[in-house]
Amino acid sequence: MAKGFFISRTLGIVGIVLAVAAVATIIALAVVYAEEKQKSSNDVATAATTTSAATPSVPGTTANPNDPWNQMRLPKTLEPVHYDVTLQPFLTQDAQGLYVFTGNSTVQFVCVEPTDLILIHSKKLSYTEQAGNLVSLRGVNGSTAPAISRTWLQENTEYLVVQLSGSLQQNASYELLSSFRGELADDLAGFYRSEYMEDGVRKVVATTQMQAADARKAFPCFDEPAMKATFTIVLIHPSDHVALSNMPVQNCCSFPPWNRTVFHPTLKMSTYLLAFIVSQFDYVQREQNNTLRAREDYGISVTGPILAFFEKHYATPYPLSKLDQVALPDFNAGAMENWGLLTYRENSLLFDPLFSSIGNKERVLTVIAHEVAHQWFGNLVTLRWWNDLWLNEGFASYVEYLGADAAEPTWDIKDLMVSSEMYRVMAIDALASSHPLSFPEAEINTPAQISEVFDAIAYSKGASVLRMLSEFLTEDCFKKGLQSYFQAFAYGNTVYDDLWHHLQWAVDEDRFELPGTVKEIMDRWTLQMGFPVVTVDTATGSLTQKHFLLDQTSVVNRSSQFKTTWRKESQNSNFSIGADPNTWLLLNINVTGYFRVNYDQGNWDRLLDQLKTDHQKIPILNRAQLIDDSFNLARANYTSTELALNTTLYLGNERDYLPWSAALSNLGYFQLMFDRSQVYGPMQKYIQKQVTPLFNYYKNLTANWTKIPDGLMDQYNEISAINTACSFGISECQNLASDLFNTWMNDPSNNPIAPNLRSAIYCSAISTGGEEAWDFGWQMFLNATVVSEADKLRSALACSQEPWILQRYLEFSLDPTKIRRQDATSTIISISRNVVGQGLVWDFVRANWKTLFDQYGGGSFSFSNLIQAVTQRFASDFELRQLEQFKADNADVGFGSGTRALEQALEKTKANIQWVAANKEPALKWFQSQL
Ligand SMILES: *[C@@H]1O[C@H](CO)[C@@H](O)[C@H](O)[C@H]1NC(C)=O
Ligand SMILES: *[C@@H]1O[C@H](CO)[C@@H](O)[C@H](O)[C@H]1NC(C)=O
Ligand SMILES: *[C@@H]1O[C@H](CO)[C@@H](O)[C@H](O)[C@H]1NC(C)=O
Ligand SMILES: *[C@@H]1O[C@H](CO)[C@@H](O)[C@H](O)[C@H]1NC(C)=O
Ligand SMILES: *[C@@H]1O[C@H](CO)[C@@H](O)[C@H](O)[C@H]1NC(C)=O
Ligand SMILES: *[C@@H]1O[C@H](CO)[C@@H](O)[C@H](O)[C@H]1NC(C)=O
Ligand SMILES: [Zn+2]
Repeated sequence: MAKGFFISRTLGIVGIVLAVAAVATIIALAVVYAEEKQKSSNDVATAATTTSAATPSVPGTTANPNDPWNQMRLPKTLEPVHYDVTLQPFLTQDAQGLYVFTGNSTVQFVCVEPTDLILIHSKKLSYTEQAGNLVSLRGVNGSTAPAISRTWLQENTEYLVVQLSGSLQQNASYELLSSFRGELADDLAGFYRSEYMEDGVRKVVATTQMQAADARKAFPCFDEPAMKATFTIVLIHPSDHVALSNMPVQNCCSFPPWNRTVFHPTLKMSTYLLAFIVSQFDYVQREQNNTLRAREDYGISVTGPILAFFEKHYATPYPLSKLDQVALPDFNAGAMENWGLLTYRENSLLFDPLFSSIGNKERVLTVIAHEVAHQWFGNLVTLRWWNDLWLNEGFASYVEYLGADAAEPTWDIKDLMVSSEMYRVMAIDALASSHPLSFPEAEINTPAQISEVFDAIAYSKGASVLRMLSEFLTEDCFKKGLQSYFQAFAYGNTVYDDLWHHLQWAVDEDRFELPGTVKEIMDRWTLQMGFPVVTVDTATGSLTQKHFLLDQTSVVNRSSQFKTTWRKESQNSNFSIGADPNTWLLLNINVTGYFRVNYDQGNWDRLLDQLKTDHQKIPILNRAQLIDDSFNLARANYTSTELALNTTLYLGNERDYLPWSAALSNLGYFQLMFDRSQVYGPMQKYIQKQVTPLFNYYKNLTANWTKIPDGLMDQYNEISAINTACSFGISECQNLASDLFNTWMNDPSNNPIAPNLRSAIYCSAISTGGEEAWDFGWQMFLNATVVSEADKLRSALACSQEPWILQRYLEFSLDPTKIRRQDATSTIISISRNVVGQGLVWDFVRANWKTLFDQYGGGSFSFSNLIQAVTQRFASDFELRQLEQFKADNADVGFGSGTRALEQALEKTKANIQWVAANKEPALKWFQSQL
């Protein structure tokens, strides 16, 4: 039990009762939640009634916010049973220059509560009237439908509204028929258009992205995840195009130039998981029933093992008879788990050994594992509403590592969870503007609110707390509960308590002793935001905990959330940990717990001593932990910056990736704060000194950069060594980069740079190479046929040191003929990471916010990333005032999915100002003393 929380004896450490104590720690984090919950219930009620203002499009009605068609959520009167949907996308422009699709749909539904009103979602569709109405209605199985008195489209809530002259009868079934037309726009939402060039010919693809609320843009539907139904999809498409949907083809007939493809009826499923694609993609096929359509094929070789792993892990067979995976040239998210028809960005599915790096390979592997994991968790069993999204995404983000490990067992990929998920999200979760994993259902209503819950907290914190839960229940017990959950809820919907309930059942079966129920333990982590710092005093043997806030003086004030109270100290705070002044003590072995650890200075000294004398006595993940915790504790003023910097002193001897990666990402903060100040000179020299042995180590290991090291972590560390050496100005590295790049410039059809090293080499060569190198890189970007190559160049082009080149590049990034829309924000973000580009981007964002917002407002992630990136160096009062001014100036336009990021940016800027004031002198002195 409690694996990972105890202190391992084999490491030569004294640890007695910690196995129990650590679990007690989790429990103690609970505290006063019940009373907080009560306090907040009023706020929730208020939030629920303030839905958006009404704009009825029906003449003669006045706006009444209480009208059902002004409510964002569907009433519980009707339940869909089956849809027959026929869609015909036109892949050439019509007379008005538009791409359109037409469609017919019939939805059969049951009336569960008598009503004279039908509300069904519909967005940007125009209808062919039938007897003066937008739709027609008929009874089925002997029932008689009342006459329609009026129909209209309610745009604010995205409904098609049907008012009836009489009431629908309880338990009777009806059919609603419609014929409609919509635009096949390039807006990456609903049924949309994607384009690419092949052999000089422009090709058009019709494809879909329904999640979260855009199935309603393809056909009228009850577009909420709990409104599950079966669907028969029919696609009418050009005969030379292949049609795909969730299910296999049932039959196909040809009436040139069209084909009509009918798919098998789906299993009972949610609308957001539907997909259909009409394209001319090539495909490769593997295994009996497992197909991958794309132009390449590492993906397919790992999909089989991953699928087999999850069938076993969930003890539930894959419910469909096929699994297609399609890479799309234009795609907003990374990938989408549509049931039986997974869609991906090209860089998340296609791996090309000639062009793709190990990082590309890991991405392909983990994204596939993530989407395959959803086929059960999410698709077979679906959360009832988007407020519980964290469980869906957190779960997939956790088990993707297990699936990936099954396919690449030599990679140790599960260890990456600590840096890629946990430390990444702790940086955000340590802010007072963070939020709990779980939202009250009534708080999430509009599509914008839904899109905002797809954030790092949902994905990465969700994954981290589930990993912790699985570790202390043991993976076998966790699996057992999970399997029971699938049996109970297949084809249905759940809330997160249902999962806790089944895990509890497994705990009881296994006769585990937990210091509380699974629900009691997990509510502490899901209903409260943030995480604790556990402080161990080895002198007195006491253990205390506190809510870890990056700014200890900040006020946590989420009025409509459960207010956080970590502050109450652990009831077990004075148990003994058998202090021994001569040995060190380490808490949170392998960093399975979602918290940070602080020690008394004596224990820190002993740990740092151990790092210096023989660092391998401490497990790799804990070496990373000591670095990451100490830097973050220092930032929050729990410990000194000097202590944090001291954890990097041993790095000259470190050859493992995870500790290096923790150090570099934390020093990255110093770089951001100081790369425009005098601290940077000595800091740069110190980093050169520490990284040189690592650089030389890989130079030898790879026989002068000609061989690829074994294993994932070693390859990552080699890349990291080159990146750090080149970007901190080690001339041997910079010369290596420009020599290789020049060789390529002299013979463009013959790239001599190994795929793993390209990002680092391109960036260095472009930063030192001036206009000529940039223009060559740009030309190679335009010519690139493989997206992972194009991505490497696109981000390296932001490394130029010339303001005019960066300004030009910024302008290119908003020209969709040069940079695809889906890549615009990530390009701008790369430019702002560059110290020379940062100010340019900030001016640009301020000047063009409205345009950016209008053009890219539909996406889920981009704005928060953009705001986060462009403000990350802000550390002066002047910059804070500019940010406040930006907020005020654009209040009318709004910040969409970047709203929370803006609040976080304000908070971080204030914290940075304080940090720089307190740390500039000590940091300068510390770096100078090392030279
Ligand atoms: C929809 O139905 C109308 C009337 O029957 C027909 O003309 C049209 O071709 C149909 N469209 C599709 C996409 O099936
Ligand atoms: C079109 O229909 C014909 C006849 O049913 C079939 O042989 C052919 O494979 C179909 N083409 C596509 C691309 O589905
Ligand atoms: C694969 O498909 C074939 C028919 O194409 C079917 O007979 C078989 O049962 C399927 N296998 C699995 C594992 O679903
Ligand atoms: C810690 O992680 C390493 C590597 O993943 C593993 O070999 C070791 O068994 C783990 N230790 C404990 C105590 O779980
Ligand atoms: C950090 O803590 C010390 C006391 O331990 C206090 O004097 C100092 O003002 C704090 N600094 C910040 C930036 O909060
Ligand atoms: C940091 O290391 C230096 C040199 O080893 C030492 O003198 C100093 O006390 C250390 N400071 C802390 C806070 O660990
Ligand atoms: Zn997901």
